Amino acid sequence: MSDINCVPRHVAIIMDGNGRWARKRGLPRTAGHQRGGDRIHPVALACARRGIEYVTVYAFSTENWTRPSAEIAALLHLLSTRIGSVARACLRDNLRLKLLGRLDGLSPESQEKVRGAVEMNAGNTGLTLCIAFDYGTRSEIVRAARQIVSRGVAPDAIDEELVSANLYTAGMPDVDLLIRCGGETRLSNFLMWQSAYAELYFTEVLWPDFGATDVDDALAEYARRNRRFGALPDGASSQ
Ligand code: FPP
Repeated sequence: MSDINCVPRHVAIIMDGNGRWARKRGLPRTAGHQRGGDRIHPVALACARRGIEYVTVYAFSTENWTRPSAEIAALLHLLSTRIGSVARACLRDNLRLKLLGRLDGLSPESQEKVRGAVEMNAGNTGLTLCIAFDYGTRSEIVRAARQIVSRGVAPDAIDEELVSANLYTAGMPDVDLLIRCGGETRLSNFLMWQSAYAELYFTEVLWPDFGATDVDDALAEYARRNRRFGALPDGASSQ
């Protein structure tokens, strides 16, 4: 297990900037998403080689349903057609694939492809690569609340541990480092419960250009941060 003060256990990535990457090259936005999809496995592998245990990437948010229907269709198509090659690359490199979020917006055939890809990697023991699809923290918390209430849990028995255990990320460590590419500085409803004490790292690099050296830059910045989890800084007294 890695020392979380030097190497994060769980890195979350908002893969932003695909559209701008494509526009700069005179290509359709979907070309940016395709190139972005191709970056997922190499970046996860770079993270695995640096001792990170979990990487979660934001592939499609609950808010992305408001995009033009052609772009939504392209993103759904991309997930169902590329997930197999991502899974095969993960199999080769002992990475485990996991899905956070919902699949019911996909056709039954596409859902089957995604489930098959996840099952293909179930026995792997290396870094867990989570694909957040049709994911949003608010709907995740609503879902957790419904699950808890439907089991008849008494209000006093509801604590943070129980809520965590009912999130998609149950059993996973909280996010230590959240990276957002593409120059925007917001969280966009991504893993907000799990990132309560995450270090935030914003970079101008567009996701389709993001690679191992950018992982190193983010990790170097993370290592410089002093994580306090709400405590006083080292050496400070309460007087
Ligand atoms: C944000 O960039 C990116 C997305 C909404 C989609 C991210 C999806 C992928 C990288 C592909 C996932 C594929 C697989 C196989 C899991 P943007 O379109 O908002 O970029 P912009 O801000 O430059 O317009």
